[in-house]
Parts: sequence; structure tokens; C-alpha cells
Amino acid sequence: MHWTKHIATCAAALLIGVAPFAVGGQTTPTTHMSKMKAASANGKDWWQNAVIYEIYPRSFQDSNGDGIGDLNGITKRLDYLRDLGVDAVWLSPIYPSPQVDFGYDISDYQNIDPQYGTLADFDKLVSEAKKRHIRVVMDMVMNHSSDKHKWFLESRSSRTNPYRDWYVWQDGKGQTETSKGEVPNNWQSDFGHSAWEWDEKTRQYYYHKFYIQQPDFNWDNPKVHDAFKDIIKFWLNRGVGGFRFDAITTLYEDPNLIDDDVMKDKDGKSFTNAYGDIALNDTRTNNLPGVHPVMQEVRATMDTFGANGFPGTRVLIGETYLPNVAELAKQYGTSDKPEFQLPMDTQVGFINKLDVAAFRAKLTDAETQLGSNTPLFVFDNHDNARLDARYGDGTHDTDIQRVIATMLFASRGTSLFYYGDEIGMKTTPPTRKEDVKDPVGLTGWPKDKGRDGERTPMQWEATANAGFTTDTAKPWLPVPPSASTINVQAEKADPNSLLAWYRSLTKLKKSNADLARGDEKMLDTDNSKVLSWERHTSGTSRVVVAVNFTAEAQTVNLAGGAKMPAVHLQTLLKTPGAADPASLGAIRLGPYGVYIGEAK
Ligand code: GLC
Repeated sequence: MHWTKHIATCAAALLIGVAPFAVGGQTTPTTHMSKMKAASANGKDWWQNAVIYEIYPRSFQDSNGDGIGDLNGITKRLDYLRDLGVDAVWLSPIYPSPQVDFGYDISDYQNIDPQYGTLADFDKLVSEAKKRHIRVVMDMVMNHSSDKHKWFLESRSSRTNPYRDWYVWQDGKGQTETSKGEVPNNWQSDFGHSAWEWDEKTRQYYYHKFYIQQPDFNWDNPKVHDAFKDIIKFWLNRGVGGFRFDAITTLYEDPNLIDDDVMKDKDGKSFTNAYGDIALNDTRTNNLPGVHPVMQEVRATMDTFGANGFPGTRVLIGETYLPNVAELAKQYGTSDKPEFQLPMDTQVGFINKLDVAAFRAKLTDAETQLGSNTPLFVFDNHDNARLDARYGDGTHDTDIQRVIATMLFASRGTSLFYYGDEIGMKTTPPTRKEDVKDPVGLTGWPKDKGRDGERTPMQWEATANAGFTTDTAKPWLPVPPSASTINVQAEKADPNSLLAWYRSLTKLKKSNADLARGDEKMLDTDNSKVLSWERHTSGTSRVVVAVNFTAEAQTVNLAGGAKMPAVHLQTLLKTPGAADPASLGAIRLGPYGVYIGEAK
């Protein structure tokens, strides 16, 4: 869980032609895919009730046997994604890059890294995805480029170069003609140590919020704005469904270069983080207000484009780790000046503990504090240990993952999940420092082993390399031993598998009107063991959801706070092996059991 730990430390921020599909003896309604997609776009835009899937392209599917995933590999797996109910895939960066941060260090924003394919492969992926009603969302990194980008090479070539002002340059403290002085202030890189790097040739420091090889852009320079508008248009013209904006809250820094404050523990003492640095609150380099006009500009640019033949609009998704829901609400902008349609709600998904009261409070915030905006729920990504490590107990991990998936898909809003979550892939960090690929794992070893553990190859089948690459190739990260039992092929054949649960949930999310569009209200709100809520549109039906957060069986009575008395209760989905309850008054749940029913 190092990334969330890290965010908390630095920011102090986180104090369908588908056949009927049977799960647990229950059958969810049959709906034709294209009709379903049209219905969800009717009156509401697609992204307001969408299923979005994050692909880490390096690790998803290799098509040419070099052990690194690629675009043609993703194209091969589109039918799988369609059957999973996916509306859009977000690809982490596939642009040319020295790969110091595995693509988040971009050296050319308008091309594809040869490791992943060509622009022609990209166009093919977009058009094949479109045939399956799937949009392709690009990752857009505007905070920094690679130090090998031509703009930075120019910038660092001389103090008078026209690109000098595209990045953040600063004299040292007490710098003289012969000495570089000290770093300009105490600001730290999110990846450890000072955020300032001395450049001997031009004798100034440059600022990098992330790796030394990722210099930050100077967003006070209008030319940087223009350059990114052009980049965004380039990809919109190629038919992308939108963008996920990387590290977007870190675009601006305090112009007065004031030091960040030292964090204090409960005894009022400072402490060190995994990198051995004094932990700081990064309030002077994160979530500064300048980002709002930038996103208004980006949104205005995007909104001049149609949706490339899809119904509805394209979408802006934000990587928005923020301290509270009020800050999250600001990321949507206003109706006059809209910003993101879908800033990630990291309040809910990164609680990292199965705590009923905490989830009830955060889900209620998402329902009541974001105005008429749509929450984007997300529990996992390529920067955090996977769900097993953050929520599992080692014994009931699959059941716990059903619990998480239920909150993800049965809450009002859009659901984003990470490749492999649907089969329950396990976090598998390197065991030896010499095997670490992610540089933060080297800086933080052994306290922080980096992010390799959540980036291992997708587990498609029980063969030598799990179907990710050829049996004889060497995958860029090793295939975890758990692939022999946790894989798509095995789970497709098992109606009680986690994959089956995901498929049932995505289908219900689209086909059941209350789950698709209904308001959300928490039920049985004093219960500390079971989280229950209802979803209701305007009709006479409503959907009730009950989720047991404990390893003991629980019985809940949901008849009390309900808006309407239920005459009839029909099971929509329930944990394998559970019985149908006779009434709302006594819903019995097994350990980590889940019940979803329609009450009329
Ligand atoms: C974001 C990405 C992460 C990357 C960082 C720097 O947090 O998700 O993977 O390392 O930005 O670009």
C-alpha cells in the first residue's frame, strides 16, 4: 500500500448480446449489449453510469513474444473486455519514453513507444474497440515530461534558450559564481529526497515533483498551455474517448517558494518516511488553485469535439488524491466553467480497512456533497498494493473482493477498476532488491518495495507464462505462482468465481433501472458489521444491498428505514451458497456475504 501511505504522508491528505449469466443459482436479466448501451445514454451521458477498466499496457498482453505487453495484445483481448461489460479502457502511458517511470516520463506526446506498437496499431485498437462499443481513454501527463523530451533538452541547453521558461528553474540559496549554494527550499519529490536537481551546465536547479528524470513544466508559461492544447487535439482527432489526467493536482507550486511544513506524529514529533526523509505536508506543491483554469481550458477544448461517432460526450478523468470531499467537489468546476466530468473519488476506495462506519460516511458524502455530479469510485490502480494486500485477511480474500466489488458497482456513480481485480490477482512484490524494476522500490527498499507487486502480468490461463506472453519468453516482471489457480480461463468455467461476480455486477449496473440511475440512501445506519443501502428511481421498486464486513454470519433487518413497505422481494444477486431471504426483515448473510434484491 505504499502509494497511499506515501500520499498520506506527503499531503496529509487522506487523514451487452449476452446470454443469461447465473451466479449463486441466480440469473440476472438478459439484455442485448447495444440496447443496454443506448439505454444508459438515454437522458444521462454514458460516463455517468460507466464501467471503466484500467490497463497497464506493459503487463496486459504481449503479442510479439518480447515479454512486454503491447497494443496489438490489447486488441486481441477486446472481446474479453466487452463480455466483462467494459465501456471504456484507460491505458496508462504508451507514448515514447525512456521508461524510467514506465511511461510516465514522456519524450514525445504525439507518438507511440515502439515497445508498444505504432500509431497504426493504435488506430486499429481504437476502431476495433469501437466495434465493441468500447472507448479508449489516454493517460495525459501535464505535470512533467521526460528529461529526454526535446523541450527539456532545449531548456537545459542555455539560460537564454526559448524553452528555458517551459520548466521550473531556480537559483540555489546563497548561490555564488563558484558555489551552487543550497537547494532553494525543503520541497521533496514524491519519490524521495529533494525535489530540486542541480544542472551544472546552466548553473541552476530545476524542480521535479517525481523522479529526477521528470522535470516539472512551468504552467505560468502560456506556451505550455498552447502546447498541451495541441497534444489534446491530436489525440481527439485520432478518436480517443477522453483522457485521464496524471498527477493533475501538482501542476503549480507556491511562487514564493515557502518551505513545506514538517508533519508531526501524535506526540508532536517529526518522523521520517520510507525514503528516510523528514515527512512533510506538501501543501505548497499540491492542490494549488491554478489547476482549475487549466482544466477549464482543457474541457473547453475537448467540448468543441464531437464524440467520434459514439453517443454522448468524451470524458475527462482526474487523478485527484485530495484531503476531503469539499476539495473533490471543486474538481468538477461549475456549469459555466466545467472541469472534470469524473475526478476520482479516492476518499472511498483508499480507506484501506473494512470499516462499516467509514464506508457509510464516505459513500454518503459522495451521494450528498457532490451536487448533481457523478462520483467516480476506484479502489485500486497501478500505484497501490492490490486489494488482497489492502483489504484481505489472507483467509477470505475472494469473499472480501466480492464485498469491495459490490460497493464499486452497486453505488450510484461510475466504476473504475484495475486489470486483474476481476479475477482476484494478488500483490506479488519482488523478494530481492536486485529484482526491483520500479525505482521507488530501490530508494525505499526494504520498507517500500515499489510498485512492481501490483504490475505483474495479467493471468489469462494456467500455462508457463499465464498466456501473457509465449511460454518461452521472459516476461518483464515474473508471473506470480498464484496464476496456476487464479486465472481467467479457470474462473470463466466456474459460475461461483470472482470473475462471474464482476460480470454479474456490471450487467446489473446497466440493466436494472434502480441500480443504473437510482438515488442512494444508507439503511440500518447503526449497524457496525453490515453496510446496507438502497437505490431507488421514481418507480415502485427499489434495490436493497447488504454487505457483511465480518467473518461471522450476520442477519439484518432492512424493513425499518425503507421508503416503502415491500410486499415482494426478489433476489438479483447473492453470495454463492446463500439462501433467498423470505423478507426484508431478516436477510441472513454468511461471512463477508452479499445480498442484492429488488423490493416491490
Ligand atoms: C501518477 C501515476 C504514477 C506516476 C506519477 C508520476 O501518480 O499514477 O504511476 O509515477 O504520477 O507521473
